[in-house]
Parts: sequence; structure tokens; C-alpha cells
Amino acid sequence: MIKTFEPLEIGGMSIKNRVGVAPMCTYLCEKKDGVANDFHFMHYTNLALGQPGLLIQEATAINEFGYISDNCLGIFNPRQKEALTHLVSLVHRFDTKFGIQLAHAGNKAKRSHTPKYGPMSMDDVIGMSHTDIERFVQDFANAAKAARACGYDFVEIHGAHGYLINQFLSPLSNQREDEYGQDRTLFLKKVVQAVVKAFEGPVFIRLSGDEYDPNGNSVEDIQKIGALCLNLGVCLLNVSSGGFANIPSIGPLYQVHLADQMKKATKGLVATAGLITESEQIANIIDTNQSDIVLLGRKFLQNPYFLLQWRYKLGLLEEKDVFIYMYRGLKSLK
Ligand SMILES: Cc1cc2nc3c(=O)[nH]c(=O)nc-3n(C[C@H](O)[C@H](O)[C@H](O)COP(=O)(O)O)c2cc1C
Repeated sequence: MIKTFEPLEIGGMSIKNRVGVAPMCTYLCEKKDGVANDFHFMHYTNLALGQPGLLIQEATAINEFGYISDNCLGIFNPRQKEALTHLVSLVHRFDTKFGIQLAHAGNKAKRSHTPKYGPMSMDDVIGMSHTDIERFVQDFANAAKAARACGYDFVEIHGAHGYLINQFLSPLSNQREDEYGQDRTLFLKKVVQAVVKAFEGPVFIRLSGDEYDPNGNSVEDIQKIGALCLNLGVCLLNVSSGGFANIPSIGPLYQVHLADQMKKATKGLVATAGLITESEQIANIIDTNQSDIVLLGRKFLQNPYFLLQWRYKLGLLEEKDVFIYMYRGLKSLK
């Protein structure tokens, strides 16, 4: 058995291997209602069929102001929750751990006819009052409670990529003079505490490990934020990057060093993603302890059977087992 295919415990949850699917927006709520439809049912069960250790659902809005686009998912009204409950039950038939990324786009929201909120007032952005902040924290908690009721195994708070939580964290987007500007982690702390309390299960957070801007948070600042999250009950730091400035150079493995440094600085569990496409790369990252989990994004979209094929090559999966995975899935979907 190679380490990649050994199980791992994360916050009381056991995953069967160390390769997951990264959260990826599908932009396919055609009715602009945030409700999962046949496409989402097909898409996520197709990914689960490839037997990743875990699967993270795309950024899902925690309130009506949080959508990244008109066609993104939401988790705040009864129809959305009903459809997501069905989605979770489908994915669970394939025996993979399924989590949801709870997101708020903040001033990057692109929903037509809906106001935008952010830490600071701008042309078309409402600077959040203390009442707005308390309400949004409550909306994160409600979404976490809903995720528990839908049956998700874990939640991931989206604290990266220049969206609302990242906007509060970064000096590039938060120049508030009140306590949320004096302590730029205050909004994050309130959200994390509320989500940990409401979900009562494993909570991950995605952070941008490098803002690629000399005036932004430094890599060390972000490691301190990672440590803070672990202290508040987060069990895994999913280390991505960017959100405000252009990423200077993107090549294979371009974010792995950020996860590695985060892991060394915090001693917590970490995940990495970003142009990781080869089995040798994954095995090396895991074997050398640079990251506890490797997340695949576009690679898994291109080939959801990548892991099954790799296990087959290693002799960890016999031909009949491949058939059993298919058959079990198909049978249970009747
Ligand atoms: C189409 C697409 C949608 C994405 N949506 C999200 C998202 O909803 N949340 C998130 O944190 N990252 C999102 N990402 C970033 C991915 O999670 C991942 O970090 C990135 O694609 C790098 O991994 P890859 O090279 O394996 O694709 C998205 C990426 C793509 C390509």
C-alpha cells in the first residue's frame, strides 16, 4: 500500500485515501435560483464514482448577497436545502466523504439586481455595518446548520480568493477604523466560531496562502491566521492563493510550497491544489509530508476515473472491483 491510499483521520472523520476533489463552481443553476438540478446530481455523482477520499462541493452562497454569479448554488432557502439533501444522498451511495464550501462573495458578488456588501463602501458596494456583520455571521451559522441537516460530512469555509472573509482579512481591502479594521481577523473569528458551533463536525477553511502583493498580508501573516483557525476548532487548512493581485507565475505544483510552509508553521493538517496532474507528483507530495491531502481540480474533471486507473496499475484494484464500483453505483441509483 502506498501512503496516498492509506486512510486518514480528520477531525473525527476517516477518509479512505488522501486525494480529494477541489471545490469548483459549475455555474449551472440555469434558473438563477441557487437550486441544485439534474446537472449537479450527475456531475457530483460522476466525480464520486472515481472514489476520491473526499469531494468538496463548489462555493455555495450562505445568503442572497453571497453568490459569485447568477448561476451559483445557495444553501439558505427550503428548495435549495431539499435539492442539496438529495445530492448528498446520491454522492453517499458511492462511499466518499462529501463536504460543502460555504461562501460569500462580498464585494465580488456578481448577482444582477442584488446589492453588494463588503468591508468598505465603494461605488456600488455597501460597507457593512455592525448589524450587517452580525447578520452575515448568523447566515454562516444557519448555512452550517443546514449543511448538517442535509447530511454533509464536513464543511469548508471559503476564506480565500478575495471573497468576503478574505476582504476583511486583507489590508488591501479592509481599511476600516472600527474594531473590524483594528483586528482584521475579527470577522473571520466570529464566522469560524459560529460555524464550528453550528456544524458540530469537521470544519475546514480555505485560505489564500499568498496574496502576491507587497501591501497585502505576508505569507507569515497568513500562517498566523491558519494557526488561529486551528485554535478555534478548524481541523484542516486548505491552502490556495491569490484573489487580489495577479498570480505572478503559474506552473505545475505552484501552490505546494505554501501548504508545506503552513503545515510546518502550524503543525496542522493541510491540503494543497494547483496544477497537480501526475500520480508521481501526488505520491511525492504525500510521502514527503508537504501536504496531508492533495486536491485535484481540472484533472479530475477531465478524468474522474484517474484514481481508479492508478490503483488498478498498482495492483490495488482488480478488474472485477472496477466493475463492482460501477455496478454498485448504478444499482443504487435506480
Ligand atoms: C472552473 C473552476 C471553478 C472553481 N471554483 C472554485 C470554488 O468554487 N471555490 C474555490 O475555493 N476554488 C475554486 N476553484 C479553484 C480550484 O479549487 C483549484 O484550486 C484550482 O482549479 C487549481 O487546481 P487545478 O489546477 O487542479 O484545477 C475553481 C477552479 C476552476 C477551474
